[in-house]
Amino acid sequence: MSIKAVVKGVGHYLPKRVVENAEFEKTLETTDDWIRSRTGIERRHIADESETTSFMGVKAAQAALKMAGATEKDVDAIILATSTADLTFPSAATMVQQGLGMKHGFAFDVQAVCAGFVYALTTAKSMIESGQAKSILVIGSETFSKLMDWTDRSTCVLFGDGAGAIYLTAEENTDLGILSAQLASDGTYKDILFVDGGVSMQTTGHLRMQGKEVFRHAVEKLSQTAVDTLADAGLTPDDITWIVPHQANKRILEGVSKRLKVPMDQIVMTVQDHGNTSAASIPLALSVACKNQQLKQDDIVVIGAIGGGLAWGTAVLRW
Ligand code: UT7
Repeated sequence: MSIKAVVKGVGHYLPKRVVENAEFEKTLETTDDWIRSRTGIERRHIADESETTSFMGVKAAQAALKMAGATEKDVDAIILATSTADLTFPSAATMVQQGLGMKHGFAFDVQAVCAGFVYALTTAKSMIESGQAKSILVIGSETFSKLMDWTDRSTCVLFGDGAGAIYLTAEENTDLGILSAQLASDGTYKDILFVDGGVSMQTTGHLRMQGKEVFRHAVEKLSQTAVDTLADAGLTPDDITWIVPHQANKRILEGVSKRLKVPMDQIVMTVQDHGNTSAASIPLALSVACKNQQLKQDDIVVIGAIGGGLAWGTAVLRW
């Protein structure tokens, strides 16, 4: 029997400071009602100076290892999805490695913006199935608050900070684990969601988005890749127990629910409490769903995300 990458633990970390929608009413021409009704977001966590991407990644990883009954000694590799590493280099993943007290194994970042966690998970799946690693921490950690233009009401109310992690190990003779995964990108859409800074400009820059355009792609591409990735695993949308999608906007989740004919009560939703945490949103949602005892062994779980690039992807797991 072939080797599968099976989830053994899930964990997350959220910054201590919670910012309710109403706080934005003091500085911007916006309302709690607009943000709630157009996005489903009610509040988000915002990191302080000490809550860096790597700090939160360590906390989330420790929580995932604890749930698995494992320690850093058991970990072969760390793959961390982020677009907001503490420094341009070294990678946030090697900082997490150091934070966990690991001197062995290897660690690297994956940058596919909001789709980063699906890209990191797909990479981990391939490494485990090929025998390159037996146990991998896959982390999504972001401090998008550092990229916000706090005068731009069309973006700054949408995002939040946080981290989630899952711990995967290689198993033989099992039906559980990651069954299939598909990745896609199309750089011709680079201008509809980007940061206007970077190494070439020697600035960090601010996030800029044509929200309506991204929205249109999100519903269409998330639904289609879910169908295709399920088909790869010999399944259909009827087999889905849970969809755990990237948390950008409640209305995107409703669109996906409608297209796939999967009721909203089978879609894990955390956007109301976290906002859009980019690559952290799916592992955060997985961790919250585990804590709420929503995800059970043998459930068919579909994760999917889309973001800057555009880059998108879906993975199907038997939990
Ligand atoms: O994670 C990466 C993927 N990102 C996404 O998936 C985001 C996808 N896009 C969205 O979620 C939505 O498009 C937004 C939430 C960003 C915007 O919602 P929308 O319904 O598409 O609104 P809109 O951009 O068409 O704006 C409608 C109006 C505009 O005013 P006018 O031009 O009609 O007078 C905006 O200026 O709403 C205005 N507006 C706001 N009003 C109050 C934009 N932001 C705000 C705000 N408060 N915060």
